[in-house]
Amino acid sequence: MNAAPVGFFDSGYGGLCIHAAFLRRCPGESTVYIADSANCPYGNRPSAEIIRLSEENTRRLLGEFGCKMIVVACNTATAAAIDFLREKFAPLPFIGLEPAVKPAALKSKTGIVGVLATAGTFGGRLYRETKDKFAKDVTVIATVADEFVTEVENLRGRRVEDLPADEYSRVEDIVRRKIEPLMAAGADKIVLGCTHFPHLKSVIEKVASGKAEVIEPSEAVARQAARVLAKLGLEAPDGASAKHVFISTSD
Ligand code: DGL
Repeated sequence: MNAAPVGFFDSGYGGLCIHAAFLRRCPGESTVYIADSANCPYGNRPSAEIIRLSEENTRRLLGEFGCKMIVVACNTATAAAIDFLREKFAPLPFIGLEPAVKPAALKSKTGIVGVLATAGTFGGRLYRETKDKFAKDVTVIATVADEFVTEVENLRGRRVEDLPADEYSRVEDIVRRKIEPLMAAGADKIVLGCTHFPHLKSVIEKVASGKAEVIEPSEAVARQAARVLAKLGLEAPDGASAKHVFISTSD
């Protein structure tokens, strides 16, 4: 048993979907979430820079808050930095994210899968290896959708469904430009490989109009985080009062 908080970081609002899924599963856990908004977006930065930022976020989660586990709630940071972090901070447990290509490839009936992520994620070893291993028999259409990151940051915590009509239709147009080519190509699975994108899930589903399933990993990541806490005996003691701290590195 361990009452220390679980740390999360992302370049901004994105990883909050992972954080929320984790708390639904583990409501007794305390958490600290760093949105590195001062350095958002991560998507196009060189790996060395993402490694440096990920190390800084981790040091803060450890030094200021004594976190017992870190969830790298960002596909881009996982792609660039998870090996480095695991080695540098061993034996601290890290949970990382990668696009859910495997379940999408296994479930696809058309044999065509669309993956939306940042350039950094597509350039990483994890993505390449997963694709080579599990998606050999399907066509994977990799689509960089950095515009979605900007739109989610612009929401500033609002739900996309609550935007005024003109703003909503501008966002829908941006989503349409990325999703329609996938639909035209016959994709029946769309993988959200960036934690910002689930915040636009309802718009993506609307554009896909029932012809493609939108797959996002929040629940699977939360399940894995809970499993690791239990396996390492790090769960919060029963009856501990959970506290949640949210930090943004910008104003
Ligand atoms: N939310 C992040 C991800 O999962 C990165 C978005 C960005 O900062 O470019 O990849």
